[in-house]
Amino acid sequence: MASDRKFRNDTHPTLPLETPVRLPAKETVLKKIAPSVLSADFSRLGDEVRAVAEAGADVLHLDVMDGHFVPNITIGPLVVEGINKLTSLPLDVHLMIENPERYLDSFAHAGSDWITVHAEACSNLKRVVKKIRQLNVRPGIVLKPSTSLKSLFPVLDDIDLVLLMSVNPGFGGQSFIPSTLKKIERLKKIIDQNRYPLEIEVDGGIKVENIREVSIAGGDIFVVGTGIFKTHDYRGTIHKLREEIG
Ligand code: DX5
Ligand code: ZN
Repeated sequence: MASDRKFRNDTHPTLPLETPVRLPAKETVLKKIAPSVLSADFSRLGDEVRAVAEAGADVLHLDVMDGHFVPNITIGPLVVEGINKLTSLPLDVHLMIENPERYLDSFAHAGSDWITVHAEACSNLKRVVKKIRQLNVRPGIVLKPSTSLKSLFPVLDDIDLVLLMSVNPGFGGQSFIPSTLKKIERLKKIIDQNRYPLEIEVDGGIKVENIREVSIAGGDIFVVGTGIFKTHDYRGTIHKLREEIG
């Protein structure tokens, strides 16, 4: 389960997870790079995790796929648990599964620090978010590119992050969908106007070449899979990504 020591780099490192907080002034929120392990070499998973941690990753993004919600199948709680033993980085677990509520306990006990569930996969978002919070894990909601921001409205007060997909979920290595930028801007406006204490994470097709525009649109956490793991120098790539988001 989530341990506060993992949030050394977070916006509210000392507060208990259930404490409602307000974001500090915009400039002081740290933007985060979250390598997506999906594009790592799984025959050397431990080395890959250690390598991105040493290269300066802020968060580790773990993609869980069940072959139903998306056509692909990836990892389950057992692998999350194994990775949790290898690193002190916060684990950002992106559930691309049907009926995610059924597996929240397992993923929480495996060491997830954030769990994001797809709005499209939940019949009662409020209940799912409440359950994640009760498990002492930070809850987030994910939207596919075609899903309206309106789906978030019932839970905007209860979540810690919104994950906007900038590709259709299921596979790494796809191209960033440009209309995501406007969606990020619209969400950012809603968040700022209402002072919601939550971060915007963006996932899919982000690379050194386009991370700046995603950041300018309002992104706070950037998931990068092939854009890191298919390069030869993780440290150099993460450094360049960070330079772009200033
Ligand atoms: C796709 C996953 C992403 C993926 C991103 O369904 O949610 O996290 O790994 O990979 P890239 O950065 O290669 O698009
Ligand atoms: Zn993902």
